[in-house]
Amino acid sequence: MQIETPGPASNMAVKTVPLAEPGANEIRIRHTAIGFNFIDVYQRGGAYALPLPSPLGHEAAGIVDAVGSNVTDFGVGDRVAYMNAGLGAYADMRNVSADKVVPLPDNVSDEDAAALIFKGMTAQYLLKHTCPVQAGDMVIVHAAAGGVGQILSRWAKALGAFVVGTAGSDEKCAIARDAGCDIAINYRNENWADDLLAATDGRKARVVYDAVGKHTFMHSLDLAQPFGMVVLYGAASGPAPDIAPEILNKKGCLFLTRPSVFPHNAQQDRFRANAADLFDAIGRGYVKASIGARFSLEDAAKAHELAESRASTGAILMIP
Ligand SMILES: NC(=O)c1ccc[n+]([C@@H]2O[C@H](COP(=O)([O-])OP(=O)(O)OC[C@H]3O[C@@H](n4cnc5c(N)ncnc54)[C@H](OP(=O)(O)O)[C@@H]3O)[C@@H](O)[C@H]2O)c1
Repeated sequence: MQIETPGPASNMAVKTVPLAEPGANEIRIRHTAIGFNFIDVYQRGGAYALPLPSPLGHEAAGIVDAVGSNVTDFGVGDRVAYMNAGLGAYADMRNVSADKVVPLPDNVSDEDAAALIFKGMTAQYLLKHTCPVQAGDMVIVHAAAGGVGQILSRWAKALGAFVVGTAGSDEKCAIARDAGCDIAINYRNENWADDLLAATDGRKARVVYDAVGKHTFMHSLDLAQPFGMVVLYGAASGPAPDIAPEILNKKGCLFLTRPSVFPHNAQQDRFRANAADLFDAIGRGYVKASIGARFSLEDAAKAHELAESRASTGAILMIP
């Protein structure tokens, strides 16, 4: 699936291209499950500019189909997944650099891997690197019924945090509670930030994980405790407003960061260590796949439209 020009989901089109033999350090993967991620919407729509025409997609799981001459740690038939190998996951087959791939443990199915590797690695760095969450911390997770949101909530709860989620309907709040949130607040209600503080008896968060952006960001600054951290890691409702740094002083000497999963997993040793941590968390039951919808790869536009409609929960997969 490629785009010639940025725009609506219908701009994505199937393109048949010849696939070269894998280079010396590459492996060829036959995809079995492809993960949708909200960044795919930003890139398809032009909010994040791409050189055009462009393939799409960051995350997939599959079977190794061929290996380059220098590759020793993968063999044909191995089950693998990746989340940071460059654009092009929306394909039935592709070549990727072997150092960007992890082998899948037996307890992680291909579909679960495609639902978890990008979103789970995001939760991993947010909880372990950006703001290492400790037992007893209060954590706010916006869009807690979504793909990253459910993983982040369940894992934060497993680490001993008091987890407050927000979501866009009462049904989604129930899903957020099922995913580990102690409290879930419907942030489509007008005074939702007041409702949240009333529900926590005025307690504020050590860290607010905010990937909603425009709709939530200024409230996030108010919901962090003094010396707390606001982690702006996405813009599902649109970009967060510009602020003057001085506001961080006024709101309680806050820390503000805008991180990304890609640099956290750019080096192979970091990537492998982070993936091992994620697989360990899956094994312990701290992280679970929640697959909300499946589409054929040709129906990628339907996957995007579902995500943009805010009707989705959990992960959306595309099956080639
Ligand atoms: N920086 C990073 O490293 C990184 C990595 C991965 C993902 N992310 C970000 O994390 C967020 C979640 O990603 P995801 O792939 O798991 O997506 P997702 O949660 O499945 O979808 C985004 C969620 O945002 C909420 N939302 C609020 N306003 C929205 C709007 N106007 N339009 C659409 N959705 C809206 C929706 O939940 P409600 O209906 O409950 O509001 C929706 O479920 C995205 O913002 C993504 O960019 C960042």
